[in-house]
Amino acid sequence: MLSLNEINALTQNLVAQSGNNTVQIDQIEDLRNVIRFHEHRYYILNEPLLGDTEYDLLFNTLKKLEAANPILITPDSPTQRVGVDLNKNFANVHHLVPMLSLENSYDADDLLDWDRKNKETLKLNRIQYCIEPKFDGASISLIYENDYLVRGATRGDGVMGDDITNNIKQIKSIPLSAAFAKHNIQQIEIRGEVLLNKKNFYDFNKQLEAQNLPPLANPRNAAAGSLRMKDPKEVKKRNLEAFLYHVSFFNPVTNAPVEDLSSHSNSLNLLWNLGFKSPKNEMKVCHTIEEVIDYCFAYESKRDDLPYEIDGMVIKVDPLEHQDALGMTTHHPRWAMAYKFKARQATSILKNVEFQVGRTGSITPVAKIDPVGIGGVTVGSISLFNEDVIREKDLMIGDTVLVERAGDVIPYIVKSLPELRNENCQPIIFPTNCPVCNSPLVKPLDEAVWRCVNYHCSAQIVERMIHFTSKDAMDIRGLGDSIIRKFYELKFLTDIPGIYTLPFEQIGQLEGFGAKSVQNLKTAIEQSKTQSLNRLIFALGIRYVGETTAKTLANAVSNLYDLKDWTVERLQSLEDVGPKVANSVFEFFQNPINLQLIDQLQHVGVDIQQKSTVQVDGNLTGVTFLFTGTLSKLKRSDAEALVEQHGGKLLSGVSSKLNFLVAGEDAGSKLEKAKKLSTVKIISEDEFLSMINR
Ligand code: IVH
Repeated sequence: MLSLNEINALTQNLVAQSGNNTVQIDQIEDLRNVIRFHEHRYYILNEPLLGDTEYDLLFNTLKKLEAANPILITPDSPTQRVGVDLNKNFANVHHLVPMLSLENSYDADDLLDWDRKNKETLKLNRIQYCIEPKFDGASISLIYENDYLVRGATRGDGVMGDDITNNIKQIKSIPLSAAFAKHNIQQIEIRGEVLLNKKNFYDFNKQLEAQNLPPLANPRNAAAGSLRMKDPKEVKKRNLEAFLYHVSFFNPVTNAPVEDLSSHSNSLNLLWNLGFKSPKNEMKVCHTIEEVIDYCFAYESKRDDLPYEIDGMVIKVDPLEHQDALGMTTHHPRWAMAYKFKARQATSILKNVEFQVGRTGSITPVAKIDPVGIGGVTVGSISLFNEDVIREKDLMIGDTVLVERAGDVIPYIVKSLPELRNENCQPIIFPTNCPVCNSPLVKPLDEAVWRCVNYHCSAQIVERMIHFTSKDAMDIRGLGDSIIRKFYELKFLTDIPGIYTLPFEQIGQLEGFGAKSVQNLKTAIEQSKTQSLNRLIFALGIRYVGETTAKTLANAVSNLYDLKDWTVERLQSLEDVGPKVANSVFEFFQNPINLQLIDQLQHVGVDIQQKSTVQVDGNLTGVTFLFTGTLSKLKRSDAEALVEQHGGKLLSGVSSKLNFLVAGEDAGSKLEKAKKLSTVKIISEDEFLSMINR
């Protein structure tokens, strides 16, 4: 493999030639291989050798070269994962071999029984097993022909599934081509599981939460839902991954035996060697059932430490000839067995539903159940998100409900068990007035959530303050949930600006507040005055503005007040800001109450300026440029290449997304337009060169 220096040299060389169409087929293929190498390091081995910026540089260079030489694009180029159109309707496709289920076992005795039967049927004293995790995601089936991925499908009813090839191509750990022919394989059908890892699931739910949408129940549902989305670009955003664990069918090129597929463990090794994420490092080949049982028990204890969800182990008879001899039923293969971990579900009784008021006035029903232990945690309260969820799950007070809690995922009610319902069960009545301030609730037509629209509702005031001080917002340690509630009750604190004028003398007299904790609180509040602008914007609690959008907004302005003059259209021109978010931000900054809040914050000393100015130390990550006019020292293409080499981005026109316009001699309309935009900085060629330390 090439060294990093060689990769860099190759990139420079290709960039230099990108404008003139003289690029050679093998140079583009070299670059593709370099990118594939790094994707494999990142997505399969979890051992990246390149930073995101360098990877983007390679990827963008390839995109540029392919755009200049479209006939050289191959279907398995890394660029071909993106840019596909919306899936209209998924076509139904036949699996080459039906996708069967697995038989379940729950304890050592079940496994001992299965092993005994296998030995009887195969007339053997000893069986070689291969054991691997049972991944808790959505199953898929892939077909490769003549080394290319030609189809990806969902399980469907096991015989026919949905053709989701375009969505499958968004999963970076699935190779678009693999050298099967070298192993005498012309066509192969591979089975696996698509997963959303715990971290991505958590982050995704946080984004939903910021938009007041109900979070996804668990990573399994999230993965299944993601695979069936209409827009492959949305699929890409979910950062799915896939473990491939079974070869269900193959056609050899010649009649020679395919040694690499002679056992299950061999096939996992082959898949791994061809660049797939197979459970090669997670699997174990065992020679006794006792060894299998030990491995299952040991794995169960580390379940919570894994980055993804598993719900058991799968034990497979390893040699293919023994699998063939054991055969299958219509439901499951006899040569495989799932060992299911202890359930993370439990039943309980729904005792009551309380209605909580959020910081934006949203009314969230919360189920109060008879406390029940699930996976080592006692669960007594479960969010039901909105009225529709109550209806969809057919819930009544008094119902027996099935509750699930997966790892550190928040618990949720899977369903009610209406068959256990008795005449004492009562319907859940959704309130028509705010349970705290009694104002009538409203529900816009296109929303699922009822709201209290009284800005002065005390529940909202408290929730806004809790959000403002929270860890991801202004991060004021020592001013958490319960302290804010207490200070509010004592009238020490009535609104957000009041955080900066707390009566510390009185606080010092409260039980539990020693001189040290008062001093710590003072310091934390003082420090928060210089928090970054993005945190301040997030802390304001603008509807639909999560941490990411807050960063986008902060990067677009130099002072919080600037946003007051932004139109909905201008807001929408920002990356990832759609009409809903733009309208919400616009309305926020038009509302005198909010402008007064910003005034008051500034008055008490909160810094509302953008502090994180763009980096000018040669690292231009995330900074956007446009060149106009004639440059005197650099060729335009060289200047543009320099921007990309330093991690910057090139834009094609003047917009609010532009950070720097580099203006040369005789600059024309672009310069004029840029002068009208306060966010664009106009610099000379020399200034540009000094930014990158040249
Ligand atoms: S083998 C013919 N191996 O579990 C046997 N399945 O509950 C094919 N699953 O439908 C399945 N991890 O979606 C196999 N390591 C693994 C698995 C696995 C998860 C899923 C698969 C199957 C379901 C049965």
